[in-house]
Amino acid sequence: MSQKLTLALAKGRLLDQVLSYFSQCGITVEFEERKLIAHDREGILDLILVKNADLPTYLRYGIAGLGICGEDVLYEYGDDLVRLFEFPFGLTTMALAGKTELERPTWGPMTVATKFIRFTHNYFTQRGIPVKMVKLDGSVELAPVLGLAPYIVDLVETGSTLKAHGLKVIQELKKIKVHLVANRAYWKWNFQAIQQFIKRLSSADILR
Ligand code: PRP
Repeated sequence: MSQKLTLALAKGRLLDQVLSYFSQCGITVEFEERKLIAHDREGILDLILVKNADLPTYLRYGIAGLGICGEDVLYEYGDDLVRLFEFPFGLTTMALAGKTELERPTWGPMTVATKFIRFTHNYFTQRGIPVKMVKLDGSVELAPVLGLAPYIVDLVETGSTLKAHGLKVIQELKKIKVHLVANRAYWKWNFQAIQQFIKRLSSADILR
């Protein structure tokens, strides 16, 4: 590959899946203990490890040209980024959940606790449903259990966190996929190298 690319990866549960997918494409990356910067063995990538919500910021400022994250991050913070490749792993569902079936209040908005303020606001207001949101940064399942809000909008993968708190999915709102994304200018200026990288990503064993 001609040119080195800079790629931001999100900390958390996606990271292991991304690195294992890379290895199926022959790309070896190891982050040393506590280090947030790494390089692949072949020398085609400079990688940084960031918080999910910060990933679009690093791309917007051009610190990293490319990133890998879920659509939940893009809906909230990164709708200006170009989506270049959809990965065949990491599929989750954005869902409305609670203890009981949905009981919309006769008057006024229903109250929903969530990390995903923008997604939730857009989803319900576009359907003419007034919604009041309580912003949380994690452990959202606590909200209905402790009476902060009767409902939550959150990502559901296995459903085990909901189940452990006596909650259930009331409605699936959106399937959430994992994408390779780019800063639009970086994509134009590094088009050939990025195309080669995408070709490489398409070569994973699991796709064959
Ligand atoms: C996510 C999500 C749910 C959980 C769902 O949280 O917000 O809490 O995973 O996964 P499951 O359906 O497989 O149980 P995360 O682990 O990212 O931590 P958070 O509570 O800090 O958001």
